[in-house]
Amino acid sequence: MTTTHNKSQAAEESENAGSNGSSNTTLGEVIAARFHRRDLLKGTLAVTAIAATVSPLALSVAGKANAQGVNTTPSFNFREIAAGSDERHHVAEGYDADVLISWGDKVLPGAAAFDPKTQTPAKQAAQFGYNNDYLGYIPIDGSRRGLLVVNHEYTNEELMFPALSGRQDLRNVRFKEMTRDLVDIEMMAHGGSVLEVARGANGKWSVVDGSRFARRITAETPMEITGPAAGHDRMKTSYDPAGRMVRGMLNNCAGATTPWGTWLTCEENFNGYFWGTSEGHREAANLRRYGAPGNWYNWGQHHERFDVAKEPNEANRFGWVVEIDPMDPASVPKKRTALGRFKHEGAANIINGDGRFVVYQGDDERFDYVYKFVTEASVDRATPANNRDILDRGTLHVARYNADGTGQWLPLVFGQGPLTAANGFSSQADVVIETRRAADLLGATKMDRPEDVEASPKTGKVYVLLTNNTRRTAAQVDAANPRAENRFGHIVEMTPNGGDHAASGFTWEVMLRCGDPAIAAVGATFHPSTSKDGWFGMPDNCAFDADGRLWIATDGNAPSKTGRADGVWALETEGPARGTSKLFYRCPNGAELCGPELTPDMETFFVAIQHPGEADEDDPNAKPVTFNTPSTRWPDFKDGVPPRPSIVAITRRGGGKIAV
Ligand code: FEO
Ligand code: CA
Ligand code: CA
Ligand code: CA
Repeated sequence: MTTTHNKSQAAEESENAGSNGSSNTTLGEVIAARFHRRDLLKGTLAVTAIAATVSPLALSVAGKANAQGVNTTPSFNFREIAAGSDERHHVAEGYDADVLISWGDKVLPGAAAFDPKTQTPAKQAAQFGYNNDYLGYIPIDGSRRGLLVVNHEYTNEELMFPALSGRQDLRNVRFKEMTRDLVDIEMMAHGGSVLEVARGANGKWSVVDGSRFARRITAETPMEITGPAAGHDRMKTSYDPAGRMVRGMLNNCAGATTPWGTWLTCEENFNGYFWGTSEGHREAANLRRYGAPGNWYNWGQHHERFDVAKEPNEANRFGWVVEIDPMDPASVPKKRTALGRFKHEGAANIINGDGRFVVYQGDDERFDYVYKFVTEASVDRATPANNRDILDRGTLHVARYNADGTGQWLPLVFGQGPLTAANGFSSQADVVIETRRAADLLGATKMDRPEDVEASPKTGKVYVLLTNNTRRTAAQVDAANPRAENRFGHIVEMTPNGGDHAASGFTWEVMLRCGDPAIAAVGATFHPSTSKDGWFGMPDNCAFDADGRLWIATDGNAPSKTGRADGVWALETEGPARGTSKLFYRCPNGAELCGPELTPDMETFFVAIQHPGEADEDDPNAKPVTFNTPSTRWPDFKDGVPPRPSIVAITRRGGGKIAV
């Protein structure tokens, strides 16, 4: 058996295949029109047509007033950088982008200095993990001192380990070369980090050495299982006969912080860590719906719990949202099963008008769904500790988008509709363990890989970032997923009925179709004043700043695909400039932009640079990347030091708010 190659490509391929075999109709089967009626009414189709016929140069010169003389100057005030890709990162003029911490740097007291040639599991367990994804800032002293909570999503062994550096054909790296020691380093490089960070008098950020909050969470950290699946037979293993305790969290992608100061961190492609055979397996259909076993890692060779044949229920214990109290390094993380089991991208949240807590979630796989969870209880703003277990009780819903621009949230409740014994559900535990199958039966709308979902704190509108889906055929096109072979993704904007996030109804429209507006066939709908540098493909994560402005992070741009690296784009969502986008920051070669997060004072923009040095997979001339031959050595640029995933703090030179 062989490793598949790099893990982000493995994830892409898994998501490519999709595992949604349900017969839910795509709405495109009932509407002939390629374009959404509301787009026509609002004139965005006309904008596409204009953008397709006017040269980009003319557009950028025409600039700032539309035909009616309405000012379309974007609210984001910065000089855009040039799109492109090279070994370094770039930020808008007048800003500094400083590396705060990198893979292998010290987190816990006594951590060894980073030396990739003598790395051990014990050293890694005290150091900053690999592939930082989500990051959240939790203030201690406003925007000067706080905690950064960071996900470590996955590992790139081809870039991490010198022992594999002789291999030029990474697609054929043998699992046997991944020794127990290397696997254990990988396991210690997964999970999360809690860092105390402070901004000095010189305006620069640093990690507080010896902080009492410092914590590493790994693939072995004991976690409690809470909510409907806790203690259920399908959660029991030989390690945990009670079905209430699990070791570690896997592939934690995005997340959120809560108003009561906890960190929600979301397990995404957990299927990739399992191997073994699922033939004749009692959970075979369940495993298949989640793409498990994925065989991306050989952890099962050294740890039986990752072999589905030897430990049949272990896979049911991953794919959850984990809640962690970062203020208490001894606290036990909790897997909140009421929020469902799928490939969670993130868990954006908002306090509803009636006080209940609403968590929006995307299941990042081709043809999978958008969810929200509404708590039973209201948030206790006066006594944060009273919210400790609020996420254990509530109702999970999945979205259906109707062709007329309305939509419904369908409740995933045992005993309601098709979620009964007739379909193999005997309790709410079954519903949450098999969330995807339950959502299939309810007739949810199959989406183009839902990544982040965020609610605007200013308008209450909800933004769903659909990153791409090249497998959608013309016959499967629907109103909410309007393009076949959707290479560049789109953004859906939802408005809850009556401004009520707990309501079962909403209206929606496609706010933006991404890709190069200069290529008519792409059908992108950026505002015409967007420059040749300002458009993007593959929207992934996003963040609102304190002024309610939307910042987009991308994953999947590359010279071979869009002629540009991933980065951070500022996207107007309101007013006459709606749909205008500007490039603020771009990643070094091979990297994806994760974890965009601004401090409350809007003076610092933290970003997570994930998997720098990967290959441009669609470039037929790209050489395989290894420890010795990465596509960049950012941020150290030293021989013998591989590229290192890092957190970057962006501040304005001389102080002040970002892009104001
Ligand atoms: Fe971990 Fe969906 O990106
Ligand atoms: Ca990712
Ligand atoms: Ca992501
Ligand atoms: Ca992604």
